[in-house]
Amino acid sequence: MEKIESHKQNWEKLGEMDPLWAVLSDNSKRFNNWNLEEFLQTGEVEVENVYSVMRELNVGLNKGEVLDFGCGVGRLARHFLKHFDKYNGCDISKNMLERAKKINQDLSAEFFENGEDLKIFKDQKFDFIYSGIVLQHLPDKEMVKKYILEFYRVLKNDGLLVFQLPSKIPWRFRLQPVRKVYLFLKLLGLSDKFLYKQLGLYPIKMSAIEEEDMKNFLIKVGFKVLTIKDDSYCGPSVESRTYYCQK
Ligand SMILES: C[S@@+](CC[C@H](N)C(=O)[O-])C[C@H]1O[C@@H](n2cnc3c(N)ncnc32)[C@H](O)[C@@H]1O
Repeated sequence: MEKIESHKQNWEKLGEMDPLWAVLSDNSKRFNNWNLEEFLQTGEVEVENVYSVMRELNVGLNKGEVLDFGCGVGRLARHFLKHFDKYNGCDISKNMLERAKKINQDLSAEFFENGEDLKIFKDQKFDFIYSGIVLQHLPDKEMVKKYILEFYRVLKNDGLLVFQLPSKIPWRFRLQPVRKVYLFLKLLGLSDKFLYKQLGLYPIKMSAIEEEDMKNFLIKVGFKVLTIKDDSYCGPSVESRTYYCQK
């Protein structure tokens, strides 16, 4: 099982070598080929999609404070700030957060480094919590569930939680050959830079929790599950869901 320290190190390295690609892994944008404006623009569609579902659900939307869990370089900050008074991003990678602070220095945004939990935040702080393309990369399913419990704790009563998570990964993707070869060559002493820049190898992991399992867990924790939508965060081959929940 991957330990949290090596998980953090992997994201530190990616945050240093190619942060925008590590966030949105489009093959044509690899090796620092994202144009920043184009990259930030992708966040607008994402936030507005979430909002259109919430309008359909007819849930009361407070302005207040939003937490973007696993915010990366803060791609969504300016778009969430159209709907909230304050944006808070947290991430495990200092390198990602440094970049996030630079990109969003003109905004009412604050960035925090978290570790295995969200103890940096007091109970019932946030009106809204969002997390996209993050939980799937955590070291194991228990940690995903542990963070769901933390989301419940730091969310205000009636607050909303929206998060994405794959529900099923086909066998051929579960083998994750890129990650396996990366780990093997790393054991032989090759550097992360060489593995990424020369061989295009990286350590990103992807895991899934079945929709029924996740739904039952959310209900057990105390969330009301408002709706579950299919999404395309992981491309055409991996089934992924976005869960809309209320505390
Ligand atoms: C694929 S990126 C997505 C970034 C952002 N959510 C976005 O969509 O623009 C995944 C991010 O999750 C962060 N991450 C991974 N594990 C984390 C954890 N345990 N706590 C907080 N952030 C984490 C990584 O450092 C990385 O910035």
